[in-house]
Amino acid sequence: MFMSKILITGASGNIGKSVIKQLFSHLKTSVSVYPGVRNPGKSSALKLERLYQGLNFKILDFENPSTFPEALEDIDLVFLLRPSHISEVKKYFQPFINALIDKKIRGVVFLSVQGVEKSSVIPHNKIEKLISQSGIPYVFLRPSYFMQNLTTTLYDELKRNQRIIVPSGEALFNWVDVESIGEVAAVVLGHFETYTGQAFDITGYENLNFLELVRQINESTSQNLEYNSFNPISFYFYQKRTGKASGFIMVMIMLHFLPRFQPPPVISNAYEKLTGNKPNSLRKFIERERSSFSF
Ligand SMILES: NC(=O)c1ccc[n+]([C@@H]2O[C@H](COP(=O)([O-])OP(=O)(O)OC[C@H]3O[C@@H](n4cnc5c(N)ncnc54)[C@H](OP(=O)(O)O)[C@@H]3O)[C@@H](O)[C@H]2O)c1
Repeated sequence: MFMSKILITGASGNIGKSVIKQLFSHLKTSVSVYPGVRNPGKSSALKLERLYQGLNFKILDFENPSTFPEALEDIDLVFLLRPSHISEVKKYFQPFINALIDKKIRGVVFLSVQGVEKSSVIPHNKIEKLISQSGIPYVFLRPSYFMQNLTTTLYDELKRNQRIIVPSGEALFNWVDVESIGEVAAVVLGHFETYTGQAFDITGYENLNFLELVRQINESTSQNLEYNSFNPISFYFYQKRTGKASGFIMVMIMLHFLPRFQPPPVISNAYEKLTGNKPNSLRKFIERERSSFSF
């Protein structure tokens, strides 16, 4: 039987870990998984190695093109993820796409973002264009807002001051579980030719603002968390004082402030169609991550 050899970029991050987990759960015998990491000695890579037998680590650094040829040696398919701090698409992703062409890669599944087609300035839009113009067969996955932001980027403030601060007012966000994105990625990587040339919005079924979200967390966990909507300038200076990098703060502002001026996110049934499952609800996510919300 033909065994696909799949390079997973961003393997040690939220999405990458979930993609690997789902590939191992559903396609263990028909794929070989190659996590692309900058440092295989780092604890996150060592943890992956302990969890899954038979991983073939590759060294890959988007900021160092000399790592590309070896990382792509023997690879058929690439799961491509843009690390959030890399926004210079031409400088860092054009050489990577060129390397995919040189190595005659069978296809690429790119982790994009919902609404990408409406904004030509966001890096994902530029990466989608590079890929579609390259002639490499592709699938684009466009997820909505990750539930896991609550336990990663928003967690510092939750832990320190039992509150969420974002400049979002009452803007609605569609909440998706990263595990659902991993499931879809595994389906698409496992049957790549069936889905070639398509783009899928991966969403949950709930559009909720942060006020309603915090209410749900408090109901489920008996906490007394708060939501404070800052204006973007106060948000910038507050985050600066807590030591965050300017680039990170600007991305947070874009992600959380712009939805105030946009229509509610579109709810897609692509996840259900591709996996046959119903998307996870926020309530179930909060229940699963209960210990993270107990302060
Ligand atoms: N958060 C949301 O709500 C949301 C919604 C839609 C789309 N997205 C998109 O999802 C992506 C982020 O996914 P994530 O949450 O899984 O990210 P993450 O947890 O921050 O992980 C980033 C991964 O990229 C790797 N990485 C960092 N710099 C690298 C480099 N120079 N070369 C190669 N690898 C590098 C990191 O590996 P190391 O271990 O080496 O650091 C890590 O594995 C972004 O493109 C974001 O725009 C996010």
